[in-house]
Amino acid sequence: MQLTQEMSKVEVKGFEAKFYDRLMDIITLGYYPFFIRKVIKDLHLQRGQRILDFGAGTGRNTCLMLPDVGKSGEIVALEIGKEMQEQFRRRCSPYPQAKLLDKRIDENLPFNEEFDLVFISFVLHGFIQPKRDVIIQNAYKALKSGGRFAILDYNNFDLAKASPIVKFAITKVECPLAADFIKRDTKEMLRGFGFGNFEEYHYFNGYVRLLIGSK
Ligand SMILES: C[S@@+](CC[C@H](N)C(=O)[O-])C[C@H]1O[C@@H](n2cnc3c(N)ncnc32)[C@H](O)[C@@H]1O
Repeated sequence: MQLTQEMSKVEVKGFEAKFYDRLMDIITLGYYPFFIRKVIKDLHLQRGQRILDFGAGTGRNTCLMLPDVGKSGEIVALEIGKEMQEQFRRRCSPYPQAKLLDKRIDENLPFNEEFDLVFISFVLHGFIQPKRDVIIQNAYKALKSGGRFAILDYNNFDLAKASPIVKFAITKVECPLAADFIKRDTKEMLRGFGFGNFEEYHYFNGYVRLLIGSK
């Protein structure tokens, strides 16, 4: 099957966008808030850091990261979904360190060695490979030397050996691009663009991974 970007569900809209956070909590049987807090702890953020959040969604992750970077830090969130942007503004407007930009992450971005961390959470799997490559290049260019690219997404695994619930989620709930993503070697993908010194953290029985590569 020829994969096309039109098959993707990554541009979340309508009902799913309006209730995105609540749906995530329901799908994970209430575990999502604990899971995402653990992920943010595993990022080992520091005061004063500048973060770029690719496909930031409702701002839930951005707002949870803000206390760690403190008042001297900054989080620049890129998000194109109108419903997602609305929720982001509502949630993050009290914090001047959180900035929302209506910019696509799969086209060339203007940032140059400005950020300590680029974070991308449940977004990369939803692109065809040439667009994933553009996103990784954008992250590399935006990072300072020694800066880190943190991908929170499905791990790479053999779908045939996965549990029935995971098989169902990937083949029936997700788009075909997710099934393509899990078959690939994300670490090798990053290595090809110059990232190294990898760290990994696993969640949900290893089906979800936080992969961090350094520039
Ligand atoms: C599955 S949601 C994940 C949201 C958030 N990162 C999270 O973990 O809660 C994917 C998000 O990526 C955004 N998105 C999709 N394509 C995008 C693009 N080309 N540029 C910027 N944002 C994009 C969607 O609008 C949506 O909010």
